[in-house]
Amino acid sequence: MKTIDLIRKKKEGGRLSREEIESLISGYISGEIPDYQVSALLMAIYFQGMEAEETADLTAVMASSGTMLDLTGMPGFPVDKHSTGGVGDTTTLILIPLLAAAGLTVAKLSGRSLGHTGGTIDKLESIPGFRTDLSREEFLGLVKRCGIALADHTEDMVPADRLLYELRDVTSTVDSLPLIVASIMSKKIAGGARGIVIDVKTGVGAFLRELEDSRRLARSLVAIGARLGRKISALITDMSQPLGRMVGNALEVREAIAVLNGEGPQDLEDLCCELGAELLLFSGKEHVRDKAVDALRTLLHDRSAQAKFRDLVKNQGGDPAVSDDPSLLPAADARVKILAQSSGLVVALDALAIGRAANLLGAGRFTKEDTIDPAVGIELLQKTGDRVTEGDPLAILHVNDTENLDSARTLAMEAYTIGNGPVVPPPLIVERITA
Ligand code: URA
Ligand code: CA
Repeated sequence: MKTIDLIRKKKEGGRLSREEIESLISGYISGEIPDYQVSALLMAIYFQGMEAEETADLTAVMASSGTMLDLTGMPGFPVDKHSTGGVGDTTTLILIPLLAAAGLTVAKLSGRSLGHTGGTIDKLESIPGFRTDLSREEFLGLVKRCGIALADHTEDMVPADRLLYELRDVTSTVDSLPLIVASIMSKKIAGGARGIVIDVKTGVGAFLRELEDSRRLARSLVAIGARLGRKISALITDMSQPLGRMVGNALEVREAIAVLNGEGPQDLEDLCCELGAELLLFSGKEHVRDKAVDALRTLLHDRSAQAKFRDLVKNQGGDPAVSDDPSLLPAADARVKILAQSSGLVVALDALAIGRAANLLGAGRFTKEDTIDPAVGIELLQKTGDRVTEGDPLAILHVNDTENLDSARTLAMEAYTIGNGPVVPPPLIVERITA
């Protein structure tokens, strides 16, 4: 099979077979096919797209390009959740102990942050001592014993995605639907879960802002996952304003602990129970959606999920006392209030601006090499729909390094639109997409 013939075939709108995709991916990983040919192929895919079967083949071939986890021997039904990324999205920290408390198996592989949305690994590493660099044996041992473990993505898994993503990044081919779907789903498939729920964010703080684009992505992810034999659904959820009230690593751990103690913001609790319900239904432990949501709410309020979180932290070297006493988490030196310049209703709270402001304070990375400050971030005292009086505090910046404080303060101030209303706060769950 000559690579140039496959590039031409795609360029002319043809459909690549499974064997052709296998030859391209294995040739690229081994170094036999050069970057310039794969670049041309990616651009051809960008313009010509891929059919569902072709995308499923690409996903499966990418997934098996490295080590795949086998979770068949685990005590509970293995599940996974993916989010396309949101500002202040603390869901995973709550959802994984909640699912484990419900008797499901959670072998979670996660990443670090880049851009204005945070990574779960960064957040958990703000807990003193918490380790995510587990060996494969250690990771699977914990999953088997406790139903839950969380580790960093390792180099040996889905190498095809790492290589292709780097190339897409420099060839302007990241925003191709089949390539995004294959990238996301190959990692989920390799992770071994049988039930998958995808949180596709929509709105200014999301990777895809427009509902129509979010919907297209959600439908395609669900279709490809189902073709590959997974139980899968997606919720399209609001990211026009940040989720919960905390944005920043230790601040979000604090917020997750509050939800796990039954005292967290309602939006975050609701989203965790709605996402979790999809997986509980897939596992067969519940058969009616409302009952599944109620069962999960009970596990939050009777602190069963909190106990699982404690186990997770303890198992991975962290101080389990944080789950009762969040003051053990790193805290910033200074708190700077953002005050309302006028009276009225919060008409909008721009998630992207808040995400950027938090990054300027040091909560996120601009390049892979940047280090993050776990203590800093933004606490939102007012959200969309709230009534404020001039001079009221809208938000609190948690600050260590003051270098970018002025820009962060301006961005956070501008994130709030105060007007006369009426305001209809955006629905948290916009749509549910099933196979
Ligand atoms: N997230 C991924 O993992 N891959 C993409 O291509 C886009 C978003
Ligand atoms: Ca939050």
